[in-house]
Amino acid sequence: MPNEPAHDLSPSQETAVPGFAGPGHVAIIMDGNGRWAKARGRPRLFGHHAGAQRVREVVECCPRLGIKYLTIFAFSTENWKRTQVEVAGLMSLFRRYIAKELRELDAEQVRVRFIGDRVRLDQKLVKLMDEMEEVTRNNDRVHLTIALNYGARDEVARATRRLAQDVADGVLLPEHVDEETLPRYLDTRVLPDPDLVIRTSGEARISNFLLWQSAYSEYEFIDTLWPDFTAAELERLCRSYGARDRRFGAVTT
Ligand code: FPP
Repeated sequence: MPNEPAHDLSPSQETAVPGFAGPGHVAIIMDGNGRWAKARGRPRLFGHHAGAQRVREVVECCPRLGIKYLTIFAFSTENWKRTQVEVAGLMSLFRRYIAKELRELDAEQVRVRFIGDRVRLDQKLVKLMDEMEEVTRNNDRVHLTIALNYGARDEVARATRRLAQDVADGVLLPEHVDEETLPRYLDTRVLPDPDLVIRTSGEARISNFLLWQSAYSEYEFIDTLWPDFTAAELERLCRSYGARDRRFGAVTT
């Protein structure tokens, strides 16, 4: 995402829910595909395919809910530890997903970005990711970010490496490094921080997702397995978010 302007924090112009101060940026840990498949006596990949189909409905309801940025965790740096069959099946699913959804997401004016380390990914997949980013780069209705081979610790390590290189090159002075500096080196540098992080499937952990960026996010851990997640449930979570008092460490009266 080189040379992109700073993110636009203005709420969506399309918000159709009156008096609804919902989250502008929602990040989702889409968990539970395997259990969903197992409950049906099917292989885990069947659950991942069902999970991929949920993404469309969720993206489509974003403008109505005032969600300008949606970030989804598709594959973590730790997911390589799964069986070779599952990893290969997921990579093939990502390739097919991009090829199939590219035109439709573009027609819906969705801008797609990918975060994570592309080095370990297959070249055919990386080419499709680059193409999707390029084709949708002028869209601004919804900003969909797909975390693929993403791990927050890995992201911070890669960012620190680049920052250290800038210091070594004399582009950056160590005494100028502060809280505003590191985010400029993160994969998410053009995105606002998430307002709301949702994890499906009943697990209450973050699993190395957006650790720096979610320092002040609100969290929702819900029991629904990802393939059962609906737009109606997202709307309920956004309404509940709207009722929360976010103080960012300050005291409000
Ligand atoms: C976690 O469920 C899910 C994943 C590791 C993969 C997420 C991928 C998708 C939702 C589908 C593809 C997405 C796109 C953008 C095409 P799990 O397998 O850990 O489930 P379990 O905890 O029940 O085993």
